[in-house]
Amino acid sequence: MSKHRHKFFFNSTRTVNDMIAVTFYFLLISGVGCLRLEQVLIFSRHNIRAPITKDTEEYTNKIFPKWSLEPALLTEKGALLEGYMGEYLTKWMTENQLLPGTCPDKETVLIYANNKRRTIATAKAFVDAAFPDCNVNVKYEKDFDIHDITFNYAIHNTTEAYKQKVLEEIEEMLANCKLTDAYEELDKIIDIKTSKICETKGFCDLVHDKNIVIYHAGDKLKLNGPLTIGNEVVDNFIMSYYEGRPLEEVAWGEITSPEQWKVLTKITAMDQKIRFNIPSSVKDTARPTIRYMRSIFTNENIKLALLVGHDANLNLITNALGFNPFVLPEQYEPYPVGGKIIFQKWKDAAGDYYLKVEYVYLSWNQLRDGVKINIQSPPLRVTLGIKDCAIDKNGLCPWDDFIKLINKY
Ligand SMILES: *[C@@H]1O[C@H](CO)[C@@H](O)[C@H](O)[C@H]1NC(C)=O
Repeated sequence: MSKHRHKFFFNSTRTVNDMIAVTFYFLLISGVGCLRLEQVLIFSRHNIRAPITKDTEEYTNKIFPKWSLEPALLTEKGALLEGYMGEYLTKWMTENQLLPGTCPDKETVLIYANNKRRTIATAKAFVDAAFPDCNVNVKYEKDFDIHDITFNYAIHNTTEAYKQKVLEEIEEMLANCKLTDAYEELDKIIDIKTSKICETKGFCDLVHDKNIVIYHAGDKLKLNGPLTIGNEVVDNFIMSYYEGRPLEEVAWGEITSPEQWKVLTKITAMDQKIRFNIPSSVKDTARPTIRYMRSIFTNENIKLALLVGHDANLNLITNALGFNPFVLPEQYEPYPVGGKIIFQKWKDAAGDYYLKVEYVYLSWNQLRDGVKINIQSPPLRVTLGIKDCAIDKNGLCPWDDFIKLINKY
């Protein structure tokens, strides 16, 4: 009996040892178990806001539903959803032992927003949920008349040669811009020929009117014409949908199918592309932002940095750094509201460092439904790759390759 028990014990111990060995081996080959999270930089777009402009009132003779907020301000729902995201991501960072689970030390956390009310309010909503009662400051340029260079997407190069090259490339992109179906769909809703802008400025035909490029060095690139008109109107529809307004208050109830959203939001994506993906201007425009990010990546005291800016910033960063093209499932926006590109620095048992980049965002319907995200009902997470920093099957690329890439700025 005692021999039997001994044998049983022996076998059982061996089984446990085997299991530990197998588990350890599995973690070793999968890599994940041996990795430690060292630093996180979250580059975020602000959350749900009121429509960006009231100029849309000139683009149709229909009356837009009223908003109780000034244009472009973060809504209460936007702040609520940002708080959920703050809680979710802080939990993840705490489980990975990057954050202490209590108030973090001041010098380890940097929260920095562009000096617009919507970006500051977004950062505050994140921090209030992530670190309640911790007095974590949100940093921003206090003079609202100054464009904060870190988030500004102005043209910096003042030479005539640069201007000519950029204008040439934009004209070529505009010539190849195929939006006829989207413009026709939009015009069924707004009927632009009965609008004020048709009467005063002669924009009466979304399909055939020309876009006019306004280029001033030191300023943002602007367009006048169908693309801007379309983008501003579709922005109104998108924000109304996210905000959860009754469907008759979203495009006057005239968008009734996913196909219509798919077609209309092509305008949003094209507007982003034409203003911010001009091949020869991406690097010039993104440089100050990437230099600031580099100052964080090379500062070992900072565990978490949250930067809150705009879709244009996310677009420019991913293009300038040569991210591989990606699609975000269950979203029509190319850079969804409240979405975050999360740069993660991981260290393995051998002491080597790796970068992983994920896009974390809410789906089209998660935003409208206002669901509280958590482990059971998570946001969407898409792993991104960078051309000059090839990723392995776990989405990791060598940290040094990444630093080499950003040192070019
Ligand atoms: C500005 O653009 C021109 C033309 O592309 C280029 O030759 C020059 O190096 C640029 N200057 C700076 C400071 O980047």
